[in-house]
Amino acid sequence: MAVIADKCPNLQINVVDLNQKRVALWNDPDLSKLPIYEPGLDEIVERCRGKNLHFSTDIEKNISIADMIFISVNTPTKTRGIGAGKASDLKWIDACARQISKFAKGKTIVVEKSTLPVKTAQTVKRILDEADGNNSKNDTQLKFSVLSNPEFLSEGNAINDLLNPDRILIGGDDEDSISALQDIYLNWISKNKIIKTNLWSSELSKLVANAFLAQRISSINSISSLCEATGADIKDVSCAIGTDKRIGKFFLNSGPGFGGSCFKKDILNLTYICDYYGLHEVSSYWQKVIDINNWQNKRISELVVEKLFGTITGKKIAILGFAFKSNTNDIRESPAINICKELILEGCTLSIYDPKVSFEQIEEVLGPSNLNSANSEISLYEGNWENAKTVFDAANGSDAIVIVTEWDEFKNLEWQKLAKLLRKPSWVFDTRSVIDVEFVKSQGINVWRVGLGS
Ligand code: UGA
Repeated sequence: MAVIADKCPNLQINVVDLNQKRVALWNDPDLSKLPIYEPGLDEIVERCRGKNLHFSTDIEKNISIADMIFISVNTPTKTRGIGAGKASDLKWIDACARQISKFAKGKTIVVEKSTLPVKTAQTVKRILDEADGNNSKNDTQLKFSVLSNPEFLSEGNAINDLLNPDRILIGGDDEDSISALQDIYLNWISKNKIIKTNLWSSELSKLVANAFLAQRISSINSISSLCEATGADIKDVSCAIGTDKRIGKFFLNSGPGFGGSCFKKDILNLTYICDYYGLHEVSSYWQKVIDINNWQNKRISELVVEKLFGTITGKKIAILGFAFKSNTNDIRESPAINICKELILEGCTLSIYDPKVSFEQIEEVLGPSNLNSANSEISLYEGNWENAKTVFDAANGSDAIVIVTEWDEFKNLEWQKLAKLLRKPSWVFDTRSVIDVEFVKSQGINVWRVGLGS
């Protein structure tokens, strides 16, 4: 919405949320307090806020004056009830549709921006249409039209992705509404990048795009283990296959497994839909993408224990990076969470450093209640963790450094200095292929790098 406001000064954009604390942070004069860390976002908010970009909790008023409403709420995986662990929880979508139906006035275009299961638009439409019928006596003009306009930006690169998208996807059947939404994008995106489909194709394309991206990562990660076993190098293999235009060079970086709020959730959703339609083979095909991801995650923590002579009880390990990828402070489904949990449960003390993730965020996932629930048989865990202020603090007295996020800061570390701080024999586990292996080795440190066989 910030980018739309920036590119369309003639539009008034009102962002509303129930959460007062969050809205207050979006309105905070100190831009470093914005609730999301995203490079470049603060500058746009500074330019547009108070002019044509407004944040508020006044949902009723802002729905009633809107010509177009983007539903951009969370659709997490259900934790209970039918489809628990797989299906998306649509309670916020349902709640939004009901609020819109209650407060909207005149013709209102409702745009699904959240990632949704196929056919959700139908639910939204039904809720709105019922209201249409209910209100027709008082407001003869009320008419809703539902469009699907999924978002393909990736965190950490969001502004650039929004400014230069590969495509804009609009699903719907009402030509006037489609053209109204298209007109917004035409302010900075050329027409040939706009793809129009029916609602279901648009909804499904979003899930499938993420499933294909995640599948590439699981594919390359599965081969990383084969490289380690055979003496090949995954970086060479990625490069060699990526030069084939049909394969393409992007998204072939082997790592600790994909994280983030989208890939796992969307694939689980896809498998749920496939099962619903009786397509069990298709469902298990996509489930494997998640299985390999979990396996990659686990094999890294196991490997650390194995290399440190089979035991890490009482040892200290530095964890560099906790975010699920660089340039974000988002830790949802971050591979760091499982890797750290496993290591703590093995009895070591972790010293965790991340340039943007706060102590409170880590506490939320690695607090005592979380660790204990990770393994119900363990009521008291021996290991622990602390939040380090710098890479050097984290490394001081550690037996190993594990690089989990590919922050730029970790690409050029002062290894001469770090070598002196580490306890010998010392190790570096580079799950992101960011270090110069030969140089680090020359400092007397043992190195394991993902996908590098010896
Ligand atoms: C992903 C998609 O890339 C976006 O197109 C989509 O809009 C978004 O989900 C969404 O549905 O909201 P995001 O999760 O922000 O974006 O980040 P990605 O860059 O896709 O990275 C996801 C995970 O894969 C990260 O943990 C990253 O480190 C990992 N990854 C990515 C690799 O391990 N290797 C790669 O080569 C690329």
